[in-house]
Amino acid sequence: MDVHQKASEPSWYQEIYTRAMREAARMIIPSLIKQITLPPSAKRMLDIGGAHGEYSRAMGAQVPGLKPTVFDLGGRSPPRRTSFNQEGNAAGLELKVGNCLLDDFGPGWDAILMVNMVHLFDREQNLNLFRKARPR
Ligand SMILES: C[S@@+](CC[C@H](N)C(=O)[O-])C[C@H]1O[C@@H](n2cnc3c(N)ncnc32)[C@H](O)[C@@H]1O
Repeated sequence: MDVHQKASEPSWYQEIYTRAMREAARMIIPSLIKQITLPPSAKRMLDIGGAHGEYSRAMGAQVPGLKPTVFDLGGRSPPRRTSFNQEGNAAGLELKVGNCLLDDFGPGWDAILMVNMVHLFDREQNLNLFRKARPR
């Protein structure tokens, strides 16, 4: 169990953590976005551990017709959902609650995004995650 899943983790901590990740994302996105090219035909993108949704929003704005889905943990305190909804959802992002180590992502994804995730998991977990995330 990692720090994100600790039942004792207070919601204020998660809220601050997610806000900090969002601020960092806003600094990283302008350079990151230039390095990702999706085919214009891409329709569905899964943003694993997408939290605040900044990367999904940016990708949605970059690729017309792309419908990003933010996949993140649910749990006892839902600050990710709260901060996600508080600012509105003009980009029409879908939110999918789940555990990327345990849940199946299902078929039909044109692109899968994972930003700042691999450091959370060990080698076996990452190998398993990348196998599951492979397009099929
Ligand atoms: C380091 S943050 C990265 C957030 C975002 N991708 C970014 O770069 O700003 C890790 C995110 O992964 C989520 N996460 C951690 N373990 C997870 C799991 N097993 N399944 C789904 N999401 C998970 C956390 O809730 C958190 O939102």
